[in-house]
Amino acid sequence: MNTLEFIRRRISLLQNIGDGIAIIPTSPELIRNRDSHYPYRFDSYFYYLTGFKEPEAVLVLIAGIEPQSILFCRDKDMEREIWDGFRYGADAAKAEFGFEQAYSISQLDALMPKLLANQSKLFFSLGADAGWDARVTGWLNQVKAQVRAGVSAPDDIADVRKLVDEMRLYKSPDELNLMRRSANIAAAAHNRAMQKVRAGKMEYEIEAEFLHEFYRKGAQSPAYTSIVAGGANACTLHYNANNCELKDGDLLLIDAGCELDGYASDITRTFPVNGKFSAAQKDVYELVLAAQAAAIAQVNPSNHWNAPHDAALDILAQGFIDLKLCQGSKEAVLESGAYRQFYMHRTGHWLGLDVHDAGEYKDKHGDWRMLQAGMTLTVEPGCYIRPADNVPQHLWNIGIRIEDDVLVTQHGCEVLTASAVKAVADIENLMKA
Ligand code: GLY
Ligand code: MN
Ligand code: MN
Repeated sequence: MNTLEFIRRRISLLQNIGDGIAIIPTSPELIRNRDSHYPYRFDSYFYYLTGFKEPEAVLVLIAGIEPQSILFCRDKDMEREIWDGFRYGADAAKAEFGFEQAYSISQLDALMPKLLANQSKLFFSLGADAGWDARVTGWLNQVKAQVRAGVSAPDDIADVRKLVDEMRLYKSPDELNLMRRSANIAAAAHNRAMQKVRAGKMEYEIEAEFLHEFYRKGAQSPAYTSIVAGGANACTLHYNANNCELKDGDLLLIDAGCELDGYASDITRTFPVNGKFSAAQKDVYELVLAAQAAAIAQVNPSNHWNAPHDAALDILAQGFIDLKLCQGSKEAVLESGAYRQFYMHRTGHWLGLDVHDAGEYKDKHGDWRMLQAGMTLTVEPGCYIRPADNVPQHLWNIGIRIEDDVLVTQHGCEVLTASAVKAVADIENLMKA
């Protein structure tokens, strides 16, 4: 993404802050065991404002008459670069990423009390990380200790993330390009999985097909742990053991997406292991597909956030009655919440740098917020039928979710993941090929 976009975001945040100072650290490196680390992933807020991917970095924004963006980052270090790879160092980072100032991270503790002195307000994610809370408190105490010298400390602390959340909710053209590419990679992986599945294979073999397709196409990682759930496993919403054999006659639910240059895709497809839906599987699948179509039809700027969920519930409730999963009228099933035995989650979430992305779902009056062009969300209804006395036996252990990534446009929406096949005939044809 273009450096100018990151600079524009910082300028915009500085204007929102008006007067005060913001401190935004990136994520720490995490040790897996001994000297092995988990793959490093930068903090989404920090990255959104900097484009800088190295660990051990902090962004400081000083708002006011002379607004400034200051980066603290690791020093150049030939010894460490021989072992771990390139580091920018402060001078190159300042030039490359457009900061007004850049300093060595080793100067952070010495400089922060000076930068905090006489600032009216501090914007910081208090409570997100105990280590950073303690460090910032230490700096503030150093400033307060200078009170008799006429120095004042910020007397108000606000969560900087709230301001950035609103910015992150509306995707720019460059972000949407990345999200389309991320979506296309994940969609191709789902199509590939349909072609690779055979009874007798293990769930992890299919997970490997996803990793193959993600990395082969340039994604840096999965966006979350892939769910590859054959048969009854699909009724466990967060199943990710992925270690069972796939059985002839079962469905396979796969919830998998990738992360490309920070941006997530999030797709679920459900299809028959043997390539042909049984009558019962098809009945439930068509119901979930109809619920998803109804929900997607509600994604436009004249509707609020919850309209797609309401539309999906309306279809599902009637379908559950038709399938004899629920009894009574549709209104009664919706009113009592009886549908929750089979559909216990919501129909989507914001999507972006995080798979469950930043952004409020309600407005300041407590009402569902209106959808607006540039917002990106998932639409993911499902139906999970665990064995129970009140459930017709031929439906037991059917678990289905269908999930797409959707962009709100000026007059409607664009399904970013449309190339992942989902109509019954298209799935069966692809699996035959
Ligand atoms: N894959 C996470 C979700 O669907 O919310
Ligand atoms: Mn999702
Ligand atoms: Mn998902």
